[in-house]
Amino acid sequence: MFLSNSTSRTVPFFLHLRSPLRRLASTKSLKETIEEVIPVKQAHLKKLKTEYSDVSIGDVKVGSVIGGMRGLRAMLWDSSVLDPEEGIRFHGLSIPDVQRALPAAPGGKEIIAESMLWLLLTGQVPSAEQTRELSRELAQKGNLPTSVASLIDSLPKTLHPMTQLGIGVAALNHDSSFQAAPCNYSKMLGYGDNHDLTEYLRLYISIHGDHEGGNASAHTAHLVGSTLSDPYLSYAAALFALAGPLHGLANQEVLRWQLSMLREVGEEVSHDTIREYLWKTLKSGQVVPGYGHGVLRNPDPRFIALQEFCESKPELLNSPIIQLVKKTYEVAPDVLKEHGKTKNPYPNVDAASGCVLYHYGLTEFKYYTVIFGVSRALGCVTQLVWARALGLPLERPKSYSLEAIEQLAKSGSP
Ligand SMILES: CC(C)(COP(=O)(O)OP(=O)(O)OC[C@H]1O[C@@H](n2cnc3c(N)ncnc32)[C@H](O)[C@@H]1OP(=O)(O)O)[C@@H](O)C(=O)NCCC(=O)NCCS
Repeated sequence: MFLSNSTSRTVPFFLHLRSPLRRLASTKSLKETIEEVIPVKQAHLKKLKTEYSDVSIGDVKVGSVIGGMRGLRAMLWDSSVLDPEEGIRFHGLSIPDVQRALPAAPGGKEIIAESMLWLLLTGQVPSAEQTRELSRELAQKGNLPTSVASLIDSLPKTLHPMTQLGIGVAALNHDSSFQAAPCNYSKMLGYGDNHDLTEYLRLYISIHGDHEGGNASAHTAHLVGSTLSDPYLSYAAALFALAGPLHGLANQEVLRWQLSMLREVGEEVSHDTIREYLWKTLKSGQVVPGYGHGVLRNPDPRFIALQEFCESKPELLNSPIIQLVKKTYEVAPDVLKEHGKTKNPYPNVDAASGCVLYHYGLTEFKYYTVIFGVSRALGCVTQLVWARALGLPLERPKSYSLEAIEQLAKSGSP
């Protein structure tokens, strides 16, 4: 539409793009035209939001169409369901349930990711022997093709690890059958001797593996998979969604934020100094990282599980960064309630996850989302299997222009 206004009509828009020097002084470029159109569209969107959010057009309200489909019941996702009050359930089992029921790794207490994968895929709790057998099978199939290793080695070292992971996973679709192998993971990271970190990774990867279907990474894997694109490409696409700061990048942001709080308040870590720092963050227009959630309206049970893990280890209890996470949790909900914007003033899983890794010496912040990405393979792969098994169709929602939405809302809609 903006390409067909009176100034651009006589000259095809691609000529403006290819040869800006040749365009007439009186013609507007694509960029200039867009700059005029954007504020008009923004005002229109604002009007729709204010006047028509609660009006239904068909089975859906205008507020859902223009509000990122928030809360819209429009996806089939069988392996987990997220309740705003009590958090995630995997085939009906809460986080404390799975911690009790699923087999742990030999020599450990925490759930091993393979047992979670079994539960997600089958809806059944595996035996310890079934879990061990699955671990063996995944490890056997886990060799990285040399071409993929060379590809990753050829990337700039400064390229964000999430981008490297996505590129590596996408390249795997060349010649291998899919495997989700978060087993033996801490050994691969060079921390194999640290039993507590291994246990932490087991717990973190298992309980973080799936969070129903509507979150950005899971939904991306599902959407791409619905084109019959293969699991490598679908999961790689999910990783790029996870790389955003409102989604998976939050765990590294939390750590940065907590460390800068520690630097600023120094020895004086108290509820009052933390409260002051929280207000400073909010007044500067930033969000408090690790707090809030698109669905949850209570403290995230995954955060609680990680806190309980910390409380079971004296070493973690004495860690300054873990103590800071705990103290921040004691203050932040009240500050966020007083601030009055967020619908959920409580911590999500990321409020703790990166800080524990930091304590154990994994200080490459940028790597934290990679661990989240590895865990998300569990849920994404499960859904891809079930989408094929159930023959779920290509996802193709209907979209409308601003004008069309307004017309539908005014007419009471069909
Ligand atoms: C997770 C998150 C993206 C959910 O977004 P959402 O569903 O739009 O959240 P809400 O509906 O509660 O947002 C309503 C308002 O509260 C604000 N808000 C939400 N969380 C906030 C936080 N942690 N700190 C300050 N303000 C927050 C939003 O920015 C929004 O403000 P606006 O009306 O000016 O746009 C959001 O809570 C957030 O940015 N949290 C911090 C980042 C984070 O921890 N991400 C990891 C998620 S697992």
